[in-house]
Amino acid sequence: MPVTAVSGSASGIGAAVCAVLRAAGHRIIGIDRANAEVVADLSTRDGRQAAVAQVLEQSGGVLDGLVCCAGLGVTAPSSSVLLAVNYFGVSDLLDGLADALAKGQNPAALVIGSVAATHPGADQQPMVEAMLAGDEVQALAMANALGLSHVAYACSKYAVTCEARRKSVKWAAQGIRLNVVAPGAVETPLHQAAKDDARYGKAVSEFVAPLGRAGHPEEIARVVAFLQSENASFVTGSIVFVDGGMDAMTRPQRF
Ligand code: NAI
Repeated sequence: MPVTAVSGSASGIGAAVCAVLRAAGHRIIGIDRANAEVVADLSTRDGRQAAVAQVLEQSGGVLDGLVCCAGLGVTAPSSSVLLAVNYFGVSDLLDGLADALAKGQNPAALVIGSVAATHPGADQQPMVEAMLAGDEVQALAMANALGLSHVAYACSKYAVTCEARRKSVKWAAQGIRLNVVAPGAVETPLHQAAKDDARYGKAVSEFVAPLGRAGHPEEIARVVAFLQSENASFVTGSIVFVDGGMDAMTRPQRF
């Protein structure tokens, strides 16, 4: 039975990923702030270390899969905590669990990015360079100084996508595949909170995909399960948009 760790397992897309992978025969080690096999706070370095240690303990040091879903949206308490979870909460899990994946069978890892990673200018923000350099103190300070949580969100998703692509090339030699799924709007508590937000609610509600609706968590989870399976055995370093056509609508000539 494949063993897969899933962060953000208690809600939304992560919970749907757990359900679909369980149905496909995986044993799941969920990681979340509550209601999970591993209860840990991914916004702090200590919390991430504790998460890695507990996953290694519960898996016996061998993992076949890792799916990093945990994330905060534009209504996060601060831009710094948003960056800490969305970028460092992913990169530290990938780093800490790489050796366990290398020992797994047909190992595959996946990061939930976002269509927001393509937000114009996100790639030019200095906080991106700080994240990619692993400088958490500076990246978090820059995010708070800017004070625009939608920019911090886009930057965190752009940086984490770059980091996953960079790692996918390195990990290929060990036979570990690593892909990114970039959802558009998906009906989850995170998306609902953004729609209810005084600053962002109108823009979020009015930005509708060509398919005319937001996605359901299961529609993301089914693509994740495919990428984590041997049906996707030659797919690595890819960014798969699961967004009802949002990326094609906003950037028809970029791919
Ligand atoms: P959600 O709010 O339903 O689930 C997020 C999960 O992450 C929650 O269970 C939460 O407890 C966990 N989490 C947050 N901070 C944590 C921390 N410090 N330590 C441990 N766990 C923590 O949200 P949703 O929508 O399911 O989000 C999942 C991922 O999908 C996120 O990375 C999000 O950025 C991404 N995404 C979501 C979209 C949407 O429209 N819902 C669109 C594009 C990307």
